Amino acid sequence: MYNILIGAKHERFIPRSGLILGEALIRNKLTSKHGLDIGTGESGILAHCLIAAGVQTVTAVDIKASALHYAKSMDLRAGSITWIESNIFAKLTVDVLYDIIVSNPPQMPMRTPGELHDYGGEDGREIILKIIEGCSSFLTTNGQLYILCFDFLGVDTPYNTRPSLIAIAESMGFNSIIISRNQRRVRNHGKTKENIAWIKEVYPGYVFRELDDGTLIHDVFVLQLKRVSLVP
Ligand SMILES: C[S@@+](CC[C@H](N)C(=O)[O-])C[C@H]1O[C@@H](n2cnc3c(N)ncnc32)[C@H](O)[C@@H]1O
Repeated sequence: MYNILIGAKHERFIPRSGLILGEALIRNKLTSKHGLDIGTGESGILAHCLIAAGVQTVTAVDIKASALHYAKSMDLRAGSITWIESNIFAKLTVDVLYDIIVSNPPQMPMRTPGELHDYGGEDGREIILKIIEGCSSFLTTNGQLYILCFDFLGVDTPYNTRPSLIAIAESMGFNSIIISRNQRRVRNHGKTKENIAWIKEVYPGYVFRELDDGTLIHDVFVLQLKRVSLVP
């Protein structure tokens, strides 16, 4: 049993992908002291998972004030998590370094800008790459970034002319491991379905798998990036 306590209203959505990353964090038996959750959302789920995994101080940021206020109001152990409204690292100071940073960032490729919850720029990688880049300033050496990524973005295998996310991270001084792979259904009326034509256009080498009943599926990876060297 995990020691997580969050208030919730029944009509609020269940953070399914956040729980995939949260479960991986708890399973990995963290020894980190200072944690940061980027894009914590209205549930603050990953910030709570960091606390449950034994991280001593946790900061949670989100660009959306309403989501952050809701997460704060539902934090039944008020005081253990510091909630900050911030565009990724913008409101954080470099005097504080984190030994673990986690994120389930918005990463849906979209032809035109969409909701902050999902919009990851035209190729879906915009926020992911900003987080990885920012880790050079905010993550301790040997600190770890755990980030959830859709496989079609080209995590270990490139699906267009751009290098894979792992190749980019390694060129920036990270060691990388995919610590979990989870199958995800493309739901009717969901954001992936809505943007599937565009995803195929941006990532022409990617092929969605199909179940017997015709449902399309893809994988969601939890990527662990360990910062092993300082790259200027
Ligand atoms: C996919 S949701 C993840 C929510 C939650 N962490 C979870 O796992 O269920 C992405 C979150 O990132 C936030 N977000 C989007 N752009 C952001 C940015 N530039 N800086 C910080 N947070 C951002 C959104 O408001 C949203 O809450």
